[in-house]
Amino acid sequence: MCGIVGYVGPREATTIVFEGLRRLEYRGYDSAGVATLRGGRILVRRAEGKLSNLEHLLADQPINGHIAIGHTRWATHGAPSQRNAHPHTDCTGEITLIQNGIVENFLSLRQALQAEGHVFSSETDTEVIVHLVEKYVAQGCSLAEAGRRAFAQIKGAHAIVLLSSREPDTLVAARLGNAGGVTVGLGEGEMFLASDIPAILEHTRRMIFLEDRQMAVITPTGPQFFSLDGQAVEKSVTEIPWDPISAAKGTYRHFMQKEIYEQARSITDTLRGRIDFETGVVTLDELNLPPKAVSQIKEMVTVACGTSAYSGLVGKFMIEALARVPVEVDYGSEFRYRDPIVDQHTLVLAITQSGETVDTLAAMEEARQKGARLVSIVNVIGSMAQRISDGVILMHTGPEIGVASTKAFSASLVDQLLLGAYLGQARGTLADQDSRSLAQALAELPELAGRVLQDGYNDYETLAHDFHDREHFLFLGRGINYPIALEGALKLKEISYIHAEGYPAGEMKHGPIALIDESMPVVTIAVQDNVYDKMISQIEQVKARGGIVIAVAHEGDQVVRDKADYVLTIPRSHPLITPILAVLPMQLLAYYLAVRRGCDIDQPRNLAKSVTVE
Ligand code: AGP
Repeated sequence: MCGIVGYVGPREATTIVFEGLRRLEYRGYDSAGVATLRGGRILVRRAEGKLSNLEHLLADQPINGHIAIGHTRWATHGAPSQRNAHPHTDCTGEITLIQNGIVENFLSLRQALQAEGHVFSSETDTEVIVHLVEKYVAQGCSLAEAGRRAFAQIKGAHAIVLLSSREPDTLVAARLGNAGGVTVGLGEGEMFLASDIPAILEHTRRMIFLEDRQMAVITPTGPQFFSLDGQAVEKSVTEIPWDPISAAKGTYRHFMQKEIYEQARSITDTLRGRIDFETGVVTLDELNLPPKAVSQIKEMVTVACGTSAYSGLVGKFMIEALARVPVEVDYGSEFRYRDPIVDQHTLVLAITQSGETVDTLAAMEEARQKGARLVSIVNVIGSMAQRISDGVILMHTGPEIGVASTKAFSASLVDQLLLGAYLGQARGTLADQDSRSLAQALAELPELAGRVLQDGYNDYETLAHDFHDREHFLFLGRGINYPIALEGALKLKEISYIHAEGYPAGEMKHGPIALIDESMPVVTIAVQDNVYDKMISQIEQVKARGGIVIAVAHEGDQVVRDKADYVLTIPRSHPLITPILAVLPMQLLAYYLAVRRGCDIDQPRNLAKSVTVE
């Protein structure tokens, strides 16, 4: 999704904005641009492709100023090109704008504006906004008032920033619906704007988040906030606990690599302060779900997308085992259109790393309208999902930059274990002894995860060497590890572009077995749990048809080692914790294969870190 950065203050604005865009590269984009003010004139530089192209353009044709806006574009209307890149400028050249989102009624607006004599220079939907603003400025409105009037006419979800040569110290920003966030960063005598916290984290940790249908008027001395109907609004400041280092790659080759290997620490952070490892008692103050509210819950529905949806499928096993509450899991994009049967006795859990996934947010709104109680498991502090929920369990992993989600996935599994234990303790379905054994297993989890992540613990190089040229993989799992097979397939396909399918192992004989041959490796999760024997027979069925088996197995399991072609081991642990360990080899297998194939690990083609368009 598009990235947005803005700055106004005494320092060199273009540099600050460009560096901010670099920290948003993970969001996925296909062109970029910056605009600043110099000598009373707006200066714009835009380039198709990677930020390096814009960097070369800025080196050849530098533009400097003390106020600037910048944008990385993920094309929706209008191909990726220099002329379609943001910022877009009006006919007078005095107003420029960047935007995230889609102007759903742009065609009628464009025709009306052209009929009034406005000349368009791009094929984008975005450009209609800057011409609308131009129209109201020409009628004598301030930039903010002209923006307010223009925003009232556009349909769809948007994040917008305006800059005008008529008001050289002012940025105007607005959030309409869920097209990604607009965050105001508070500096000393300087102000920042961003669609994502990492873009400005090195400059300030004091952030203010725009809500839906709010706008900010920003000068170096500070911001003022208004609703779109022009009423002044009071906003609170959030101190972001993330440090800038955590948003940097450090010595790792890729953000994804860093985030995979830091999971022992991130799991520790996720657990911190939430469970008494002696008694097993779970405390989730931010969940805002007192025992009385727990007693009202008759069923749960988890809504999420992508990796977060697979996390919800694992969480179903955890929460049903611990709290004996039925849990239905649905994709956000499906839930919102199926007139779901939820009411005040339904607890709806949204799982979303970014907190801005538009399908998940829409599902949350649908649940809200039907009277459900809304809680969310979120990583990005101040995100929309956190703000519209009745309660939240933060993942506490620090910023996850790699497009392929890894540490957020394991954190969301830990959070669901904590939620299940919390509900079980409140409902009396979880015996004290079981709470204590789960707590003990959780206490050991970071060390066990660290062991799996140790160099040399498993041999991924050989697997990458032997299978980097394969075009198809099948991933099989059963029970609580079936969703881990789905996640393993997703990790592989999204960063290596190898076609991969995750399947319930029991379903192989109902179709996929027809695919088995020596060209398609089959990854099977064959840990020693209640379906172990079935998985052993699965491996034999694949081998009997000339297939190749890469098995995930417990340490020291000689039976699997004798039957499979390759083995990725994990330590033994509590059955509900095993999936958290089993996903680690899946992440590393995908990573090593993608590196061997020379893929763009942190910005896979066509993908975005936060999908804020439908
Ligand atoms: C995961 O690796 C993908 N990047 C994608 O499926 C992601 O999980 C999905 O878009 C949901 O994102 P969210 O957790 O931020 O809502």
